[in-house]
Amino acid sequence: MDKELLLQKILEQALENFTLQTPLKFEKPSNESFGDLSSNVAMIAFKQVADKFNSPRDLAQKIADKIVDLDQDKLLQKVSVAGPGFINFKFADQQVLSNLDKILRLQKVELIDLGRAKKAIVEYSSPNIAKPFTIGHLRSTIIGDSVANLLAASGYEVFRDNHLGDWGTQFGKQIVAIKKWGDEALIDLSERPVEQLVALYVKFHEEAEKNPELEEEAREWFKKLENGDHEARRLWQKCIDWSFIEFAKIYEYLGVTFTENQGRGYGESFFEKDLQPLITELKSKGFAQSGKEGAILFFYPDEEFTPLMIAKKDGSTLYATRDLATDKWRLENSRYQNSDGSAPLVVNEVGSEQTFYFQQLYRAEEIMGWYQKGERVHVKHGLYRFKEGKMSTRKGNVIWLEEVLEKAKARALAITEDEAIAQAVSVAALKWNDLKRKSELNINFDWDEILNLQGNSGPYMLYSYARAKSILRKAEENPSEFSNNEEVSINDLEKSLLNKLDEFAKVVARASKEFAPHHLCTYLFELAALFNSFYNKYQILNSPLERQFRLKLVEAVAIILKQGLNMLGIRTLEKM
Ligand code: ARG
Repeated sequence: MDKELLLQKILEQALENFTLQTPLKFEKPSNESFGDLSSNVAMIAFKQVADKFNSPRDLAQKIADKIVDLDQDKLLQKVSVAGPGFINFKFADQQVLSNLDKILRLQKVELIDLGRAKKAIVEYSSPNIAKPFTIGHLRSTIIGDSVANLLAASGYEVFRDNHLGDWGTQFGKQIVAIKKWGDEALIDLSERPVEQLVALYVKFHEEAEKNPELEEEAREWFKKLENGDHEARRLWQKCIDWSFIEFAKIYEYLGVTFTENQGRGYGESFFEKDLQPLITELKSKGFAQSGKEGAILFFYPDEEFTPLMIAKKDGSTLYATRDLATDKWRLENSRYQNSDGSAPLVVNEVGSEQTFYFQQLYRAEEIMGWYQKGERVHVKHGLYRFKEGKMSTRKGNVIWLEEVLEKAKARALAITEDEAIAQAVSVAALKWNDLKRKSELNINFDWDEILNLQGNSGPYMLYSYARAKSILRKAEENPSEFSNNEEVSINDLEKSLLNKLDEFAKVVARASKEFAPHHLCTYLFELAALFNSFYNKYQILNSPLERQFRLKLVEAVAIILKQGLNMLGIRTLEKM
């Protein structure tokens, strides 16, 4: 059992002894030398027994004595009282040492099972067909992938979905533009087909200003697309295939995959057939009504939100209609249902600019009784802010992701000559930069920070891991002639490291529960920093007495760094 839980049991027993009732919570003492954990129960509970004890501190001392009594298995090395009545606990070295042995035996840390095989759909990336894959989609891909990994590691059965924007009236315009000004054969040959599609789309709007009939033509083509017209469907499908040439490259570069619909994800178009029946159903159940202008709207009781439009007055559907259809399908698909028939957890990783929209969507789904509170989660991300002039921005302020990826790799080549390593370093650098802070914050994108080998960066993390592995390799090449089974005394840094190893499982659980990979980053960075100070301060291979113990520590650090980084979607390198 976790040592904190064991301690809690003992403390509960001690309190019972004084017939005290109070909820228990441990804090970390401000100073590690006070102990590993501390509790203020005596101060909180004192008023219950103020007639029997002189002061909270007096009570704390009596509780502390009782705990020492009860601690038959020597969980604790020291129990002390401080200040106005804090009780500080220091665990016996044996406790953290046995955890160390366990990590080495299993070659991983056993994580806390939060999901208990419950199902979770994590939807991320979700770029739009015939449009650029933006920085926002990059963030969604990185953060969503990591959230999916965290949930999977915490016992959920995870489905990874990509809600592609592959439907909507814009495809009418795109088709008109391709037919009028495009050259399919040329786009086929292009390395960047999306660039050409975007140019055609821009041209459509320029031309439509002069010649408004084009808009009518576009509407007709979209109608044809909806009605299954062969030519319309063919061109639409080509747009998807062209776009995927670029999307697939990006996913491969990032090492990100999806599980749904053969790895493509269920795009908006997949739900097209469900849209009209859905509108009819919502109307017949009274959830949706025609508004003044003829559009169909979902109305919220007490006007809690502005109504959500689900069909325009010409009958065409919207983004929201397709999201509702998607979530209803997920709910009804047995593949996603829990064994007790309950709804899966559904997470959408989408930019924070859509926060209000997702509030409306979730609330509507709750009102209709589809999902309950907590079963729908919006994980949001902020924007990248670029320093002026550092990144080429083209017309319309579009930043082409490929340029970012190429630049990252070029920069990484300054750290290493090896192409493959440079690629891995650049991916780690970008991912870490996205994951290390609360996802909804904006990022001031700064290449120097992202690749700084001395700072809180992906390359620093990879480097720390590679350093640990290199020590372990050297140890294998030069076995020690000392067989040391003697008891080693553990110094402060080693104790801190041991305690840190012990926290990993709890940190992962918190990151999963809060859908917040940054907690894991903070932890891993602290672990790496501790490890690096340890490495700088103490001999490892050349200290006959401590060598074996210190190597165990190094190995455990490497195991956790790898396990943690992999959960963030970052591949470690054995050498750098
Ligand atoms: N395609 C949308 C965009 O680029 C994101 C879709 C997010 N997911 C969703 N279920 N609405 O903005």
